[in-house]
Amino acid sequence: MTISFEGRVAIVTGAGGGLGRAYALELARRGAKVVVNDLGGARDGTGHSDAAIAVVEEIRAGGGEATPDGGSVTDPDHMEAMVGKAKADWGGVHILINNAGILRDKSFAKMEMSDFRAVVDVHLIGSAICTKVVWETMREQAYGRILMTASSTGLYGNFGQANYGAAKLGLVGLARTLALEGARHNVRVNTIAPTAATRMTEDLFPAELLERFKPELVAPAALYLVSEDAPTGTILGAGAGVVQAAHITLTRGVALPEPTPESVAAHWAAIVDRDGEIVPQSGAEQAMTIMQRLQGG
Ligand code: NAI
Repeated sequence: MTISFEGRVAIVTGAGGGLGRAYALELARRGAKVVVNDLGGARDGTGHSDAAIAVVEEIRAGGGEATPDGGSVTDPDHMEAMVGKAKADWGGVHILINNAGILRDKSFAKMEMSDFRAVVDVHLIGSAICTKVVWETMREQAYGRILMTASSTGLYGNFGQANYGAAKLGLVGLARTLALEGARHNVRVNTIAPTAATRMTEDLFPAELLERFKPELVAPAALYLVSEDAPTGTILGAGAGVVQAAHITLTRGVALPEPTPESVAAHWAAIVDRDGEIVPQSGAEQAMTIMQRLQGG
């Protein structure tokens, strides 16, 4: 079965290069009309350029339809105007890929709070702003597909990326909650944790792996997660053609009727034992497992 985006309007943030560009090109190739958003700044978020225009020209040269937007995802008024223009020109917005991002890596000891805030602002608050400005439209249309971009750093941690990790796991919580709130309006919300050789990771990849980790090899997983038959609430890892699912699991744990720090210590092995662990589908489901444990379940 071919996955088509014919008749769909998509916004991809941070699509002037790297992964966002690969998503925008493939969405357009498969029929979507695409808003290519990118502030065009440096890797640390400073400056501005016409990166979005170059990608739009590439899409048009291939026979696709696209429009550039040079605004920042952190600017709610600009993002609202961008969505308004897409709706006026093309009649709706069906897909949002929150992909824009910056890096300000430093060990936490050396990190200024201004660098912490800047990274959280672009990744987490920027994604919330862009989602907020399409949310009502998607609910009214009874159709929406939203993708958040997390990272292995958010899921598992990485040295020197406290700001980035905090923002990225925040996006997982945002996506999981919006997946629940969007369900009855046919708005599906997923998360991707990509691995690709882009300017963001250029210092990490040895030259011989650059080809293998092309952004184009992440695009298929991202496009599936914004397609008509997409699941909702999932977290996918994708890189070099390897696609994985990540889960936030919960062990069975122990019921300690009168817990003390000493009894927690004494039961540590049973608390962390992964036998019979589950993946709760909501926070409320975790509370239910507590009730079950108290009733001897
Ligand atoms: P990239 O640096 O090529 O792309 C990020 C784009 O976002 C840039 O074009 C940049 O100009 C744009 N941008 C930055 N701030 C913006 C703002 N305020 N408003 C609009 N656009 C803005 O890097 P890459 O690798 O393509 O990153 C894409 C996403 O994937 C990011 O969210 C990144 O954190 C995430 N990611 C990438 C990984 C990788 O292995 N490349 C690993 C994990 C996550």
